[in-house]
This record gives sequence, C-alpha cells and structure tokens, in this order.
Amino acid sequence: MDSLSDGEPVIRVQQSGPLNGTVRVAGAKNSVLKIMAASLLWPGRYTLRNVPRIADVRWMGELLERMGATTTQEGDVLTIDVPEEMTPEAPYDLVERMRASIVVLGPLLARFGEARVSVPGGDDFGHRPIDMHLRGLEEMGVSFTTSHGYIEGRVERLLGTKVLLEFPSVGATENLLMAAVTAKGTTVIDNAAREPEIADLADFLNAMGAEVQGAGTSTITVHGVERLHPAEHTVISDRIEAATYLVGLGLAGGEATIDGARPDHMEMLVEKLTDMGMRITATADGLWAAAPARLRSVDLSTLPYPGLATDYKPLLVALLTTADGVGIVTENVFAGRFRYVDELVRMGADIRAEGHHAVVRGVEVLSGAPVRAPDIRAGAALVVAGLAAEGETLVSAAHHVDRGYQDLVGNLARLGARVELVAGT
Ligand code: UD1
Repeated sequence: MDSLSDGEPVIRVQQSGPLNGTVRVAGAKNSVLKIMAASLLWPGRYTLRNVPRIADVRWMGELLERMGATTTQEGDVLTIDVPEEMTPEAPYDLVERMRASIVVLGPLLARFGEARVSVPGGDDFGHRPIDMHLRGLEEMGVSFTTSHGYIEGRVERLLGTKVLLEFPSVGATENLLMAAVTAKGTTVIDNAAREPEIADLADFLNAMGAEVQGAGTSTITVHGVERLHPAEHTVISDRIEAATYLVGLGLAGGEATIDGARPDHMEMLVEKLTDMGMRITATADGLWAAAPARLRSVDLSTLPYPGLATDYKPLLVALLTTADGVGIVTENVFAGRFRYVDELVRMGADIRAEGHHAVVRGVEVLSGAPVRAPDIRAGAALVVAGLAAEGETLVSAAHHVDRGYQDLVGNLARLGARVELVAGT
C-alpha cells in the first residue's frame, strides 16, 4: 500500500458477484447543499431530514458556521440555526474545496444586499465558469467587482425581471431562484435547469413562505415576497447513488432492491439500462433490479435533465467496459470529464476517448489494478469496475468518494460484494 496511498484511504475491491440483497440510498448531495444555502435567506431554526452524512455536507455546514450559523447533524437530521447578524462571505479555503459553495451568492445578496465570495477555480470537470450566475444577478440589479480573487456583489434591492439562461445551468438556476424569492416583483427564469434537485429546492423555499412556480420545468416564475420563515424539509433521495448500485449490479450480475430510490427521477437511465439487458421495476419504496451475467453495449449521450445526467457517465463508461459490443459515449454538458478513462484502461478496458466522445469496446473481463479516484463519481465508477475485474483493485484517493457517499463500501458489501476500506499508511 505504502507508495499507493500516502496516508489517504484506499478501497480494496475483489471480483464479485452475483450480487444479492437490499440497500437504502441516502438523501441527494446536490439537493441538500443548495437547501442548506437557502437557509441563509431568513433567520431561525431549520430542520432537514434525510441528510446524508458526507464530507460535502460537513463542509457546507462549516461554510454556514464561518458566516455565523450553528449546525448540528444527528443521524440523518440536520439542524441549522441562522442568526440575525452574519458575515456574508465565502472564504477561499472553503470554495476551493467545494465549488458548490458558489450557491451562497444568491441568498446572501437577497438577505444582506452584499456578498463576498472567493472566485471558484477549475476542477477535474475542467473549467467551470460562473458567468451565467453573475449575468442573471446583474439583470436583477446587482453590481459586481472582482479583486484579490474575490467577487463582491452589492445591491440596494433585488428587482424581479426576466432572465434567459444561455444553457440550463443547475447552479445558475439555483442562485437566481434563491435571489428571486424576496426580490421586488416577479422573476421569470427561462431555459431553467429542470433537475429534480431544483424542484426540491423550490419545495423547500415554498415551505419557507416563498412563491415559486414551475420548478422542474424550463420556466420558473417567482413572485417576490416580503417575509419568509424557517422550515422543515425532507431531502429527496440521491439518484446518482442509486445509479451506482444499479451499475454495480450490472457489472457483477445478480439482483437487488434499492430502497428509497426514485425511479421517476431516473427514467432515462432506467431506459438505457433496460436496453442493455437489465430488468428494473418500481417497488413501493424504491426499485428492484436484476442483471444477467453479461450486458449488451449501447450508445449514450449526456444532456441536462431529463436527459442522461453527466454525473452518471463515469459509472456508465465503467459498465460498458465489459458489455458485449461497442458503445459510443458523448459528453454534452462538461468539456473535460474523461480523466478516469486512463484508470479504466489500466484495468484492461478498451476505451478510445477524444474530445467529447469515448468509444468503449467491451472486453470479457477487466483486470484488477491499483488506480486513483479523480473525483466523487469517477471514484465510485472505479470501485464498481473492480467488481468485474479479476484479482484485486485498489482505489486510492478514496476520500473523494466520501464527499458524496455515506457508505458506498458498506452498501456494496451488503449486496455481497467483496469490498473493504483499507486505511492508508
Ligand atoms: C451541478 C452538479 C454537478 C452536475 C452538474 C450538471 C452540484 C453541486 N453539482 O453542477 O454534479 O454534474 O450540475 O448536471 O449540484 N456553465 C457556464 N457558465 C455558468 C454556469 C455553467 O458556462 O455560469 C457551464 C458549465 O461549465 C457546464 C454547464 O454549463 O459546461 C453545466 O454546468 P452547471 O449545470 O452549472 O453545473 P453545476 O451547477 O456546476
């Protein structure tokens, strides 16, 4: 392990399957982070349920605490106490660690008329600009200046207006939605992102007394209100986590019940996995799925919701590595999301990736190897790929996986996978 881990956690995976059993998915990371940011809009005590115990939630909690809030998580219940007096600033060390911190910009401007947020840098997804966030907020009356690596926004009173997004950006839609809740007049966000996490955020805002209509569609209308109040909310379940178990099943074969999963949030994925030969049906509290020993290849294209989520892509590329035939994968949301491909190739996968495309030729079996997790979902993809790899796969930098999964290793083991967390040296 020595040179591999360098003190980081490592996940050891051995060829496994067929899987069998039941797992439960946790709340959606990409929902709860935005809902936590939305609590900044009004002082008081908030209670959130179905909150995953993951690093990103702790970091967002830390960000709220630096501004003056108090957060406590017990089990899956997160309590946030938002005070009257706060420091509306997101410092460099936290934004650099977690890019999603940018979503505090909208709520801070709405509540305090000012915000100071470190400019997010690039990450393994490539360059991720925030121009659409800023342009939309400017259209609502905010003036921005940038100095010493920070964006500073100021506004007397946010004004409702019509904002047309150039691309249905998830983060820009969320920032504008939160800014609009207490703006003067009506805001219409057109070409809005339609992800289920946005509808969940709108449900939370409405529980706070906001008047948001159309979230989950391309046109969101927000009638600004004068007052809000704290709220309680149960976060929707994580569709990417559910997808991870489905893909694990596809790679190892077998059958499993995934409690808490929302098949209505994963329709395109279910359709693709069914095309590949899996059987998936809704249950009273989630879904049941079965996979044959070998799946068929299909072509895949990522798109904003309701298209196939870009966050599923590393998992699906891993799934194609052992499917029968050739699959072409096209990335339409982010520029540089193929880093994990080199790691899969080290495990014996036959993948040619260039620009936005990857051509995956299925091989009979992968070959276990030491690999490194580049980010949350790609890390999880390498772990499940290990289920279909002869011998042992050691996934280092496994702390990336903890950012988004409460207990990936435990849940896969619950399904009978031979996987364990090995402490780094
Ligand atoms: C969110 C998710 C991420 C997911 C992504 C797309 C969170 C914490 N993260 O990220 O897991 O992969 O949605 O489903 O919820 N863009 C611009 N200018 C902007 C904003 C975005 O050019 O101002 C571009 C991005 O570079 C990217 C595309 O728009 O190419 C989509 O990005 P966006 O939907 O904003 O993703 P995030 O909200 O950052």
